Amino acid sequence: MPKVVTKETLDAMSNFQVRDDDVIVASYPKTGTNWLLEIILKIRRAARERQTELCEDSVMFGPMELKIPSMPQPGYIKLAEMPSPRIMNTHLPIQFVPPGVSKPQNKVKVLVPMRNPKDTAVSFFHFLNKMMPLENPGKEIVLQWEEFAQDFINAKVGYGDFCDHVLGWWKMRDDPHFLFLKYEDMKKDLLSAVKTIVAFLEVDLDESTIKGITEASTFNNMKADLDNAELVERQAIARKGIIGDWKNMFTPEQNEAFDAWYEKKLAGTGITFDFE
Ligand code: A3P
Repeated sequence: MPKVVTKETLDAMSNFQVRDDDVIVASYPKTGTNWLLEIILKIRRAARERQTELCEDSVMFGPMELKIPSMPQPGYIKLAEMPSPRIMNTHLPIQFVPPGVSKPQNKVKVLVPMRNPKDTAVSFFHFLNKMMPLENPGKEIVLQWEEFAQDFINAKVGYGDFCDHVLGWWKMRDDPHFLFLKYEDMKKDLLSAVKTIVAFLEVDLDESTIKGITEASTFNNMKADLDNAELVERQAIARKGIIGDWKNMFTPEQNEAFDAWYEKKLAGTGITFDFE
């Protein structure tokens, strides 16, 4: 686990009360969490314009399990005080999340973004390098890609092994409370992805509204907002937003090692990824 997830936090997860109208994004870091959160928010905002009796959402962008020194309370305590309906996220593997997230009941909705492991690793590496100086003021800590790439496939990064994480959530693929979305599919056809999310959230929107949400959710349009966000962590999110950036970082040897690792772990599971 990353330093900002403590034993106390993990213990608290079993008592965290999930509410019937919660929407949760459950993801491995850097797989498109914030993209999905933004789309959900935009969809619900548009729904409220049509149905004025709907209440405004409470949203928390930081994962529920985080206990960041600069924040007075861990995410899950803050969330417990927020009015419904809530939109939240977690990066925890399925075995650590509150029972109401791993075995959702009633109208709870869980969205799981997935992204190819090579681009995920590259995105994670750049994000951590941006965060390091903030979390370790005065110290000059710079991650090296060579070492990070090795650590990634050896499960020595925050939140552990990418494949185990994905496989844990994938077990829920036939449960109607869950929606799995691949980053690469969203990049290739965002309009279809937005329509799928609209249907999953059981919201009724017309075609032109859906197109407007899609346009507002493209990388360039979202980057403009994220770059001006209040929180430094959010300013670091929109980096390149492409499929295949791994080609700019991977050596042929790293590529072979990643292929061997994920192909072995994911063989026969039905999970496949696009790498370009
Ligand atoms: P890159 O670092 O490869 O650019 P998360 O939200 O889970 O931390 O994921 C962050 C990744 O999603 C970053 O990837 C970021 O650029 C990408 N991303 C954010 N908004 C996006 C959008 N609207 N379209 C495509 N990618 C987006």
